[in-house]
Amino acid sequence: MAHHPLPGSLESGCIHGHLSHDTSHYREGAAQLELGDGFFRPESRPSRDLSVLMAAWQLRQRGESPCRWLDLMAGCGIRSVRWGLEALPAIRTSSAVTLTVNDADAARQLLLQRNLAPLRSARLTLACHQEPAEVLLRRAYLDQHHFDLIDLDAFGCPNGLLQASLQALAFDGVLLLASTDGRSPTGHDRVAAVRKFAAAARTHPASWEVALRLQLAVLAREAWMLGRGLEPLACFSDGRTFRLAVRMRRRLADGEEQQLGLLARCARCGAQAVQPLLRLQGWPSCACEGTQGRWAVTGPLWLGPLQSPVVISELLELADALEHTLAKPGRRLLQRLQADPGLPVCCWSTAELARRLQLQGPPSLHDLVGVLQASGYQACASGVMAGQLRTDAPLDSLLQVCRHLGRKDR
Ligand SMILES: C[S@@+](CC[C@H](N)C(=O)[O-])C[C@H]1O[C@@H](n2cnc3c(N)ncnc32)[C@H](O)[C@@H]1O
Ligand SMILES: [Zn+2]
Repeated sequence: MAHHPLPGSLESGCIHGHLSHDTSHYREGAAQLELGDGFFRPESRPSRDLSVLMAAWQLRQRGESPCRWLDLMAGCGIRSVRWGLEALPAIRTSSAVTLTVNDADAARQLLLQRNLAPLRSARLTLACHQEPAEVLLRRAYLDQHHFDLIDLDAFGCPNGLLQASLQALAFDGVLLLASTDGRSPTGHDRVAAVRKFAAAARTHPASWEVALRLQLAVLAREAWMLGRGLEPLACFSDGRTFRLAVRMRRRLADGEEQQLGLLARCARCGAQAVQPLLRLQGWPSCACEGTQGRWAVTGPLWLGPLQSPVVISELLELADALEHTLAKPGRRLLQRLQADPGLPVCCWSTAELARRLQLQGPPSLHDLVGVLQASGYQACASGVMAGQLRTDAPLDSLLQVCRHLGRKDR
């Protein structure tokens, strides 16, 4: 396969990992492979564990229908190897599985071939490519070859590849998306956010969640323009990489367009407000005195759920049958996400609430959730960012409860 030059934005920084680990023998799950000198982060294991569980889950879902997986930017090939050695043997099926492995970097090919060798005896058809993602995706679309699972593990912002990826995805197919562009969706590069997300992005204490919601909004618009619907399955971040697993539905769900909207926050008093684009009006007053407050508005962003607790429960159940797959950090992550579907939208940093009230330290999240729920509000700990509360309680009630709990703590 010919090697085409890599398009700039996705290539930048990709081959220059800082490897402090032994690059000759790396073990993860059932895989043992060479990492070479390319970019690799052992700390990203939870996302790879999730991708293996997702592949197994999909294989089970599809019954005897064929299953086509694409590892679009494979790097050393670890995801593909783990799909083949962990997901495949765990599911009893006679479904025909095709695995397409691609990385545009010519310097990776020999290593990739060596690492993929154990898959030659696996019960799947293996196709290896070395070409730019956009070429592979466009050809797949032209050939009407649709994938059921696409892992797009890019550097920087992947938005330029979303339309082509969704067009190459089968109905009910799953896209695993990574973005390492943290600056624009967290409000630290507002100009780039306009370019890449067509959105206003302002700083916010729940910045990782805001970044995930901005990413979902772009995905939703791309899916909707194709007449398809979007269902988030699992969204999370470590503050460095923003990861999303979404399912593309054949059609939009009823009222799905209501999930696009704006989030406003007043930096001075901390109040927050949310509005769907379909019911956009003026903003209410924040909690500031007189005219001192000012809303900083972020969006359009996704106002719907971030996780599918049902799918995550099934993944956790499935993990029992995949003995090598889910390491402790990945399990803890999935358990956190399972307990927090991502609604209501507003998240509050308990440290910030404590600062506003000049408390000694943040109130216990557990106690806060308990008191708010007992008062009839929705409340849970955010599964996306530690030390954050998700609730529909207004700021004044929230501060009142925090003050009360703060007094009890003394
Ligand atoms: C983040 S690394 C992949 C890591 C791998 N998926 C893992 O789990 O370890 C990104 C890879 O994408 C490749 N790449 C960058 N731009 C590309 C493009 N436009 N088309 C195909 N591959 C690309 C790079 O060569 C690099 O190996
Ligand atoms: Zn205010």
